[in-house]
Amino acid sequence: METLRHIVVLVHLVGFAVLFGAWVVEAVGRRRIIRPMDWGLAIAGVAGLALAAPWGIDGDLNYVKIGVKLVVLLVIGALLGIGAGRQRKNGAVAPALFWSIGILTLLNAGLGVIWR
Ligand code: HEM
Repeated sequence: METLRHIVVLVHLVGFAVLFGAWVVEAVGRRRIIRPMDWGLAIAGVAGLALAAPWGIDGDLNYVKIGVKLVVLLVIGALLGIGAGRQRKNGAVAPALFWSIGILTLLNAGLGVIWR
């Protein structure tokens, strides 16, 4: 069970890597919203929900942290949706919206690593 949980954490990290990696590539490039960002968010979200249940661990889970991470994930999803829509219409994304996606992604990773 513990090994399976570690595998789900790995999948969670792959989601983070895909979302944040795609964002970094765009941050130094054309600053657009691209599909791999959606895939990364979906992978991190599904694996995160699986990790939100208390299996394969001895101690308690920090449900306040998990709740905050879920809210941040929903905000990132909304920004990706709004940004993709505006990009289709205007051909570009507002800089504040684009940068918020990267900062919130890093915030969620930081919450996972630092807040115990
Ligand atoms: C953009 C979205 C997200 C990103 C980038 C992200 C990133 C991370 C990272 C980097 C870790 C650290 C893993 C470690 O220290 O081994 C982590 C842990 C964790 N995340 Fe997320 N996460 C996201 C969304 C979520 C969501 C939506 C949930 C639950 C609803 C969640 C639940 C957890 C849990 C429970 C852990 C602790 C895993 C453990 O130590 O057993 N995450 N996350």
